[in-house]
Amino acid sequence: MTSSEIRNQFIEFFKKQNHAHRPSASLVPDDPTVLFTVAGMVQFKAQFLGIGNKSFTRAVTAQKCVRTNDIENVGFTPRHHTFFEMLGNFSFGDYFKQEAITWAWEFLTTVCKLDKEKLWVTIYKDDSEAYEIWKNDVGLAEKRIVRMGEETNFWTMGATGPCGPCSEILYDIGPKPGKPEAGPDEDEDRYLEIWNLVFTQFDRQADGSLAPLPQKNIDTGMGLERLAAVMQGVSSNFDTDLFQPLIQAIAKETMKRYGKDEKNDSSMKVIADHIRSSVFLIADGVLPGNEGRGYVLRRILRRAVRHSKLLGLNDVFLYRLVPVIVGLMAAHYPEVKERREHVVSVVKSEEERFQHTLDSGLAILNDTIAEVKKTGKTIISGKQCFQLYDTYGFPLDLTREIAQEHKLGIDENSFNREMTAQRDRARSAWAGSGDRVISPAMSILTSKIVPTHFAGYTNLIVKGKVLALLQKEQAVKNVKAGDEVVVILDTTAFYAESGGQLADKGELSNHEMLAEISDVQKTPEGHFLHFAMMKRGSLAINESVQVAVKSGERTAIARNHTVTHLLHAALRQVLGKHIEQAGSEVRSQDLRFDFSHFQAVTVTELDRIEDIVNTKILENVQVDTQELSIEEAKSKGAMALFGEKYGDRVRMVQVDAYSKELCGGTHVRDTGEIGLMKIVTESSVAAGVRRIVAVTGENALREIKRQQNVVRDVCQTLHTSEEEVPARVEKLMVRVKELEKEKEKNMIKHASTSVDDLIHQATKIKGIACITAELPGFNMNAMRAAADALKQKIGSGVIVLGTAEDGKATLIAAVTKDLLDKKVHAGNLIREIAKVIEGSGGGRPDFAQAGGKNPEKLKAALAATPAVLEKMVTG
Ligand code: SER
Repeated sequence: MTSSEIRNQFIEFFKKQNHAHRPSASLVPDDPTVLFTVAGMVQFKAQFLGIGNKSFTRAVTAQKCVRTNDIENVGFTPRHHTFFEMLGNFSFGDYFKQEAITWAWEFLTTVCKLDKEKLWVTIYKDDSEAYEIWKNDVGLAEKRIVRMGEETNFWTMGATGPCGPCSEILYDIGPKPGKPEAGPDEDEDRYLEIWNLVFTQFDRQADGSLAPLPQKNIDTGMGLERLAAVMQGVSSNFDTDLFQPLIQAIAKETMKRYGKDEKNDSSMKVIADHIRSSVFLIADGVLPGNEGRGYVLRRILRRAVRHSKLLGLNDVFLYRLVPVIVGLMAAHYPEVKERREHVVSVVKSEEERFQHTLDSGLAILNDTIAEVKKTGKTIISGKQCFQLYDTYGFPLDLTREIAQEHKLGIDENSFNREMTAQRDRARSAWAGSGDRVISPAMSILTSKIVPTHFAGYTNLIVKGKVLALLQKEQAVKNVKAGDEVVVILDTTAFYAESGGQLADKGELSNHEMLAEISDVQKTPEGHFLHFAMMKRGSLAINESVQVAVKSGERTAIARNHTVTHLLHAALRQVLGKHIEQAGSEVRSQDLRFDFSHFQAVTVTELDRIEDIVNTKILENVQVDTQELSIEEAKSKGAMALFGEKYGDRVRMVQVDAYSKELCGGTHVRDTGEIGLMKIVTESSVAAGVRRIVAVTGENALREIKRQQNVVRDVCQTLHTSEEEVPARVEKLMVRVKELEKEKEKNMIKHASTSVDDLIHQATKIKGIACITAELPGFNMNAMRAAADALKQKIGSGVIVLGTAEDGKATLIAAVTKDLLDKKVHAGNLIREIAKVIEGSGGGRPDFAQAGGKNPEKLKAALAATPAVLEKMVTG
């Protein structure tokens, strides 16, 4: 079976058992506690906790996953990957061990037709229930059911969250020649884990204890790459049809043969794996960066670039592999095809960036390694690693890996100290940006409470009941004036920060109390956390409050949000379909919109964009919002945004046929309410990402008034009308140029009259006529003209002239042609004497110039000339 057939057969098999086929979730989970989607179950976390979508209780997926904990092994073993696909079937309080085990067995033995004699299983040590099912229902021989401990047979997604004992199905690939017979507990290489069945029945608490979940669940995961390797009879995942076309493309590009040289093979595998994760991460909205997800992507891509260098390539080429991956994967993951152009440009630009510094960085690292070895040390200092990171873009893991190849370590602690110091510097520059992260502890505290009902699309004032009060991540029963507290209500009118739109501000109050709300965040489970400051009175659990959003701010935010959609559509219309939103921030005072585009947007393009948006505003189109299924929304052509995870029911915001986006934000009712949109700046944020800042409504008016005031001031100074300003300024510029020319002419006139005096002052150095002079008030052009006049008059000689002005000294040197063979060189001469005025300079053999910052030494510099000249011709 091809891997694509395996994937389809798996889905079909479980669909027949009434499982809902769910699409793969984004690699970027909508969960601040998790970096990437690491398993099929990540998208079902809420269902496992009994609080998620209840419209289905069985699901089947082929899920894209990224794990980077073993990145240094990737390429050097047959089975390590950063990107892989996990086939999984899930039950949420529906079937349990019996069905999970027997279906897994049926799929492997009847659909995949694996040899029953080669299958073994492990179970958690005290799980007699699983043991009985394997023995009695499946009929597996007792010796092939192995009991193992917590380390291998108790699955947890992280430090906290849904977990449970598991039973793994292993495939015996047979003994290695010369290796003694052993069981799965002793020989991991021989017994290949292909499927993990997790009986998810606990919720691990922050203190490590296991709380039973309200229901028993099933979470299974089978690596597609491994199953494909077993079924296709190859010993490495890289030899399956998932990888071979890619590896062959790499071999062709690098003109190396796969399978000939172990080192080259490893590099090809590294590239194949890493380009797969990069393509999928970028398609899910991650961009290379220096923090979090962006940094992981950068490190993966840069590791691949280094291996392309090891294969002898000095040019960018990874981006040419993107179409190969699209060809292999688009049938199941259409996003790689939809975002293909964007992925290509991001990969290419990151490659180009790193190619730039890779050579210099490698040279430095090699010197360092040689130095460390010479001094008999075994560790590369954190400072060095930091310099490589900061100046040459070497991710720490890359430095570590290269060091390891030379049997050296790195001083990670001191690297981290350097990093922290730099972060602190960066942070203090950004103080007040107010990013709040919901801690895992907070998520756990709230997971027992019903999610908050958001009534704020239509109401700005509602009644809410206090369900929880949290202080310092602990639940408390009541709070009083002066306390800072996080309030969770059953109903709220406050919009919680999401989708780039900042939270509403406002108040909670009743006859007893008043609290100011400065920020609102939402947990993945849908609890709105109101960050409140108690101004007056006290507040206790179960009390009712009036929830009131500041309406002025909300209106300003709504204007900016709707305009963000209009801007997005206009950018695609004017610049092209490759425009993807790369980030946005919608605030009351302005909006920021980041998008993928590889050059600056021209003034004419910006003008057109602004006009299109303002036309839509003038048309006063109604902004429609409707809830519908994700499939319906997509079929209507709604734009789904990067990195955003959508539920089954989505909200589509539509401005006639012009703009359709999936969005949970708050919007104006009619575009006319926006008043006016004005682009304030267009700039670059990162390679391939541009940013537009724009204002609307009153702020647009204010911006226009500001510009008007500037023009008014200019008019007053010039004593002219607005219309005449451009012509007036042009005329002034022409006049200034004329005056400058006139001034030069006067100087030259002055110079020509004194040419004879200067000629008389000429001294002879080793038979060469040498003229040095200070010409006060001269500029460069005038000095040049004087030097030319002197050259003509003297016929043969060396001329050095200088002038001092505004704390600077300028020197020029001219040499007549006949002296050029006599080792006289104007550039070398001026370089020496420029030192006297604390400056530098250079130029051609016949003409050179220099500048210096010590005008007081000008005379001394001129006086030094004869000696320098003498040394030049004699030396
Ligand atoms: N969550 C389990 C795993 O990742 C089974 O899917 O192994």
